[in-house]
Amino acid sequence: MRIGIFDSGIGGLTVLHRAIRRCPGAEYLYYADCAHVPYGERTAEEICAFVREIVEFLLGEGAQAIVIACNTATSVAVRELRQTFSVPIIGMEPAVKLALDRCAQGRILAAATPVTVRGDKLHSLLEKWDEHHRADLLALPELVRFAERGEFEGEAVTAYLRDALSAFRLEDYSAFVLGCTHFNFFKDTFRALLPERVRLLDGADGVVSRLMSCVEIPAEPSGVPVRFFDSGECVESARLAQLEACMRRLDLMERIE
Ligand code: DGL
Repeated sequence: MRIGIFDSGIGGLTVLHRAIRRCPGAEYLYYADCAHVPYGERTAEEICAFVREIVEFLLGEGAQAIVIACNTATSVAVRELRQTFSVPIIGMEPAVKLALDRCAQGRILAAATPVTVRGDKLHSLLEKWDEHHRADLLALPELVRFAERGEFEGEAVTAYLRDALSAFRLEDYSAFVLGCTHFNFFKDTFRALLPERVRLLDGADGVVSRLMSCVEIPAEPSGVPVRFFDSGECVESARLAQLEACMRRLDLMERIE
C-alpha cells in the first residue's frame, strides 16, 4: 500500500513520523510544497490549485491513498479534492474536539495559520462541538517561517510566542491545540511558556487512525524507504539530511505532552 502525504513544507513530517510509527507496513511518499509555503497566508484559490497539482503528482507516483498533512489545505480544499479524485483522501483539522473531550474543565487555546483560523471549516467545527464557547483561536503565521528556516528554538522563537500568548490569561486554560502541523517542532518552547496543567494536543494520531480505517495496510514493515519530493522534484542528499534531522527532532518532540 503506497500512501502519498503532503504539506506546504516540513510540517507534515509530523504526520509522516506518526504514520511510520503506527503503520510501518505502508510505503510512503512525502511531498513538501516548499516553492509555495506558507499556505496559511495565501488565497483559497491559490491553495486549491497547488494541492490539485500535488495530488496528481502523487497519483502519478503510484499513491493509492492521499493524506493531507496540512490543516490549512484541508480547510479550503478537501471537499474539492474528494470530488475530483477517486482514491481515499484523508484530511486533518485542529484537534479541538479531542481537547474538549479530554479536558472537561478550563479553556482551550487552538493555534493555527491565519487561513485555518478564519476558515468556515474550523468555525463549523466549533459550532458543532464547543457548545459552552470554551475555545479561543490564535493565528501564529511566523512560526511556519521559523520552521522552514530550521529555527526551531532560541530567543526569537521564544519572544514571538511569549508575545502572542501574552494576550491570554494562561492560568484559565487546560489545553493548547497545535492546529498546524509545523507547530509540533516547537513543543519544547510551548511547554516552557505554558502552565504545567495545559496539555499539548495535536491531530496527527487522529489522521493516522482515519487512514488505517480507510485502507488496508500490511502489518509487516515494508522496508521501503520514504521517498521525498520538494515541489515535484526528488530531494537531493543535502536536503534529505535536513529532513532526516527534522524527523529526529520529532522523536524528541513526541515525548513532550
Ligand atoms: N502545516 C500547515 C498546516 O497544518 C500549513 C503551514 C503553512 O504553509 O502556512 O496548516
